[in-house]
Amino acid sequence: MKITEALFAGSSTRVTERPKQSFPEFAFIGRSNVGKSSLINMLCGNRKLAMTSSKPGKTKLVNHFLINRKWYLVDLPGYGYAKMSESGRRQIQQVIRNYLNLSPDLILLFVLMDSRHDVAKADIEFLNELGESNIPFAIIFTKADKQGPNVLRAQVEKNKLQILEFWEELPPVFISSSETGAGREEILDYIGTVLDNLNSQETKQ
Ligand code: GTP
Ligand code: MG
Repeated sequence: MKITEALFAGSSTRVTERPKQSFPEFAFIGRSNVGKSSLINMLCGNRKLAMTSSKPGKTKLVNHFLINRKWYLVDLPGYGYAKMSESGRRQIQQVIRNYLNLSPDLILLFVLMDSRHDVAKADIEFLNELGESNIPFAIIFTKADKQGPNVLRAQVEKNKLQILEFWEELPPVFISSSETGAGREEILDYIGTVLDNLNSQETKQ
């Protein structure tokens, strides 16, 4: 899958404000500062598409990016940012919940986790919520450039085992770096396969 065009299609806080044109959506979520917006930029080959920041809590809205005029990448706010005020956190939670529960075109959610750290309690709780709402997801371990290959591999293996304590099977797992472009092809090819399956299901119906 190649991205030939990526256009900002709008920001929203509730699904009623989403872009009018409906296309399959692939959304990115994870703890604040994990690298969601940077990864979207890396996949699209445009560092200025989604706003990023070294300070957590940058993305506060649901941002749609129209890809190749056929599908959306969706940048979501982060969860689990401890330093945010209680009301700010509740608001963000509401934006995330509204999107996850009510988006008719959400096909798959990429849940991002920092490849340097153990899986956080907030991540496990979030995955469990996804299970309850039957939302298909894949996992991406981000910031792979921040440590050497052996340490990276060991931490990712450890994290997979931590997830398997709560889940019978692992979802698709990717490793990415927005700095080096690692994981780009794998993630885009995976999206391409999911879209192909979707199209062939539609033609069968
Ligand atoms: P919120 O919108 O606040 O939830 O954060 P986010 O998950 O969108 O993170 P964002 O993409 O804004 O990145 C947070 C910080 O991490 C920024 O300073 C990025 O430059 C940095 N960063 C993101 N991805 C990578 C990566 O793969 N490698 C390195 N070295 N830094 C990264
Ligand atoms: Mg962001």
